[in-house]
Amino acid sequence: MEKQKIILDCDPGHDDAIAIMMAARHPKINLLGITIVAGNQTLDKTLVNGLNVCQHLGIKTPVYAGMDRPMLRKQIVADAIHGETGLDGPVFPPLVREAEKTHAVQYLIETLMASDGDIILVPVGPLSNIGMAMRLEPRIIGKIKEIVLMGGAYGLGNLTPAAEFNILADPEAAHVVFTSGVPIVMMGLDLTNQTVCTLDIIERMENIGNRASELFGDIMRFTLKTQNEVFGLEGGPVHDVTCVAYLIDPEIFTLQEMYTVIDITGGPSYGRTVCDYYGTSKMPTNCKVGITLNQDHFWNLVEQSCSVYND
Ligand code: BDR
Ligand code: CA
Repeated sequence: MEKQKIILDCDPGHDDAIAIMMAARHPKINLLGITIVAGNQTLDKTLVNGLNVCQHLGIKTPVYAGMDRPMLRKQIVADAIHGETGLDGPVFPPLVREAEKTHAVQYLIETLMASDGDIILVPVGPLSNIGMAMRLEPRIIGKIKEIVLMGGAYGLGNLTPAAEFNILADPEAAHVVFTSGVPIVMMGLDLTNQTVCTLDIIERMENIGNRASELFGDIMRFTLKTQNEVFGLEGGPVHDVTCVAYLIDPEIFTLQEMYTVIDITGGPSYGRTVCDYYGTSKMPTNCKVGITLNQDHFWNLVEQSCSVYND
């Protein structure tokens, strides 16, 4: 089986951590690198979280620290959902794993320029690293096979009525990415909110009984608590995991091509992904937007991905 080469760009983050776990060992995926960005928490914290997850699960993939702030706007973090550390809940042993010396943006540029155009970027945090790499070296744009990202919504936002966190945290970077011409798959909240993890799913994963399933439990028990406090939900979505699941089995998703622009005008819809669902603008489509996923198959994939850590 030929493995799909990917770079996972993330801001761990609870669902980011599960996305790392799932991508690192799946037989269909070749995880070349993990690039970290500020988002759910400040960069020093998201980097430590990414390294902790890798150390704990024995993931040897190189980790690169990237942008510590958005391109233009004032920095925001998602501490109400992810806590003071950005990954509250799990307790890790002392950290010895270190990040690479190269900046994530430099790593993205060098890796893409040296590639045959066969790498998929998987950003599941604010798009600061990807947008900055595109501005610094525009020739990478022709080298990116596809971008499969978590962000935005064609419906409601989760941080403002109009905007989803990853896009609102760096709308200008998202604008660079969405106007780049690279084929985009956008897993927005309309899709990712269909991955609500409830207590029975947590127990199902914990029953696998290995370090990955234990970590899943610690992560999701905390997520359930904050999702209940903030949104009044009885479960917590694992937004970022949908991008990895899509790469493993795209058949379980339905998508719709849409023309999508990012609102960078600074008003009440700042950071909104304005998706032309009905095609009224007659503009050429620039991304495929996730609409539905088969939930049973999705959780089977997560279970399989936890199970490969049994050794
Ligand atoms: C997104 O924001 C973050 O809190 C999550 O990790 C996910 O990437 C959901 O809006
Ligand atoms: Ca994330």
